Amino acid sequence: MAKCNVDRLIVNANELLTCRGPQEGIRGAALRKIEAIADGALAIQGEHIAAVGTSAEISAQYTAPEVIDAGGRLVTPSLVDSHSHLLYGGTRHEEYEAKVTQRTPAMPLDGGIRYTVRKTREASDRALVEQALRDLDVMLCHGTTLLEAKTGYGLEREQELRLLRLTAGLRHPLQVVPTFLALHVLPQEYAGRRRAYLEQALAALPEAARLAAYCDVSCDPICFTYDECEEVARAAHALGMKIRVHADQTGDARGALLAARLQASAADHLDYASDDGLRAMADAGSVATLLPGVTLHMCEMTPRFDGAALASAEKPFMPLVARRAIEAGAVIALSTDYNPGSCPSPSMQMVMQLAARLYRLSYAEIWNMCTLNAACALDVSRDRGSLEPGKRADIVIWSVPVHGMVINRFGVNLADTVIASGRIVVQHGRLASESRSTAKEVPCQ
Ligand code: NIG
Ligand code: FE
Repeated sequence: MAKCNVDRLIVNANELLTCRGPQEGIRGAALRKIEAIADGALAIQGEHIAAVGTSAEISAQYTAPEVIDAGGRLVTPSLVDSHSHLLYGGTRHEEYEAKVTQRTPAMPLDGGIRYTVRKTREASDRALVEQALRDLDVMLCHGTTLLEAKTGYGLEREQELRLLRLTAGLRHPLQVVPTFLALHVLPQEYAGRRRAYLEQALAALPEAARLAAYCDVSCDPICFTYDECEEVARAAHALGMKIRVHADQTGDARGALLAARLQASAADHLDYASDDGLRAMADAGSVATLLPGVTLHMCEMTPRFDGAALASAEKPFMPLVARRAIEAGAVIALSTDYNPGSCPSPSMQMVMQLAARLYRLSYAEIWNMCTLNAACALDVSRDRGSLEPGKRADIVIWSVPVHGMVINRFGVNLADTVIASGRIVVQHGRLASESRSTAKEVPCQ
């Protein structure tokens, strides 16, 4: 039988992790299973995967001008990061030292956000974009090929739309999905004028809908109420936008229930979400996105973070939200929430490693949550998130032979080769030379 010629083969993977599952996402007990093909291989044609199988099967059926020998290493789908705030100014490292040493009274979360807002408003377009491109380079080298990026540090119409335009204009081999974060926290200058703030957020939506497919609202005791979020989200939906929710991060504001009611693509954080809220999300098919980098960085492993708690032999409280969400039957994804405050790490590898340690999840659960389920959170599981014929060739060859090692080890970059839409964009952990990033029409300020 004549062999079929394709662009590229990858052969000799010790394990080829397909991360296959239903397009609506993987839930419950199924999360604990994962398909690993021993001595795996795949064929790539153009931007897509033509075939997946064992090295013997693929070599018998396909030839290609380029054959990548995985040399007994692990091959997986690349990682999908469905929550970040990519564009921001300034740094919050000083606030963080003060927090961990308890040198000064703790800065409330919304205070930290407002500090970043000030720094972001001061930053030029060019500075914001250049920093974002550098961050995208790092994320790509760590194995992420699709990233959701929210605004949220402008906090008024023109500034938020500026961030959205800059985000939508980014050109990089790591694909960016922009989200308009219409409601984050109330800015200082609108204190006592909540209605006026909602009005200006509503007024920004028509322009935002031209630039982004998603609108996000923060439903949380320190952010906005259920009713405020519902009003803005419904207006965004009427303009054709899909909905995401920052939900119940610092207390139960019924954000999970709102996400379900709005049939949001995803609701994220959820530390204080009620069981009813998590079950409603499971029924509605809204993806529950958990953010272990935030859990770690905000020191949320203990019920209280003060001298007394540290001095006592108090047993650490391991966040239970992951288990509660699994029991509720939700489709769960993991993400960075990359931002300068609550999670300054851009690495999905770090997220995977923290999820095991903090949430006590199995390796299979974590891989499913960072690939196919994360693609569900961005409504692209038809095209991404698993290694299957017809799907986009977004692939990582790791420097280790088995998938558990990516999670068991921590603190080093284990991604060796990254392929995005069939193109090698990272080799030996470094950007391939033609993967240079650009921004479309970056206006100089
Ligand atoms: O973690 N309610 C939103 N909280 C943000 C905080 C970002 C920051 O600390 O700047 C979040 O998504
Ligand atoms: Fe966030």
